[in-house]
Amino acid sequence: MSIQSDVKRLTAPDIRARKGGEPIAMLTSYHAHTASLVDKYCDVILVGDSLGMVMHGLETTVPVTLDMMILQGHAVMRGSSRALVVVDMPFGSYEASKEQAFMSAARILKETGCGGVKLEGGAHMAETIRFLAERGVPVMAHVGLTPQSINTIGSFRAQGRDESDWARIEQDTVAVSEAGAFSVVIEAVAEPLAAKLTGMVPIPTIGIGASVACDGQVLVLEDMLGLSPRVPKFVKRYGDLGPGIEKAVADYAAEVRSRAFPAAAHVYPMKAKKA
Ligand code: KIV
Repeated sequence: MSIQSDVKRLTAPDIRARKGGEPIAMLTSYHAHTASLVDKYCDVILVGDSLGMVMHGLETTVPVTLDMMILQGHAVMRGSSRALVVVDMPFGSYEASKEQAFMSAARILKETGCGGVKLEGGAHMAETIRFLAERGVPVMAHVGLTPQSINTIGSFRAQGRDESDWARIEQDTVAVSEAGAFSVVIEAVAEPLAAKLTGMVPIPTIGIGASVACDGQVLVLEDMLGLSPRVPKFVKRYGDLGPGIEKAVADYAAEVRSRAFPAAAHVYPMKAKKA
């Protein structure tokens, strides 16, 4: 009996090889059920630390823990079979040293079975990215707006609007690429800079609020479905599920209160008594 599954999951090298080719479609997911839907159509599923804000109602991603990421990473792996699953390394799990980063990344890979991790930061994380990549950890980097730095940057604002900021973001992108990242998320940068960054590195750039000039795009699933209370203005809505859910919940509560829901006798007819 073979222990190999019939469906071959995409790997980090498969995604790396998509540079300049068919654009990479990536969405977040934190649950088995949404992962199974995203898996049918997307190349990469990101178990983003945005789960802290989307699922837990936190103000920022800073309080998210490694255990939270591993728990949801498990669920997404169970729900998917084809897409590469990348799990975010949360704030505090990798910045102290490259050894700390390796121990956290190893836990994520071993305990979830995912195919890569993502971490935020550019040139200052390059040494860590190299350390991980040389030890068998596929790393997706994340530059531009890095939400885990909210307490030092002050707000979730677009990056590189002033051309004098470009050099720093260019150095970050080149540094993570040279360090061995297999792809890089570029968040909240204007199109001319996104185009320049995409042309500068041999790895795929995956934009979020960074225009069509990138090699792919990632969005937070709940944002594009109309389920998040606060949505960045660059997000295109592909659904409007919030009002639909609210209507269903309101209808349900009204039916329960008026005893209009199907009676148990209707769902489970009584068996005839044996003579
Ligand atoms: O946590 C997340 O969902 C992310 C995306 C916004 C790229 O990092």
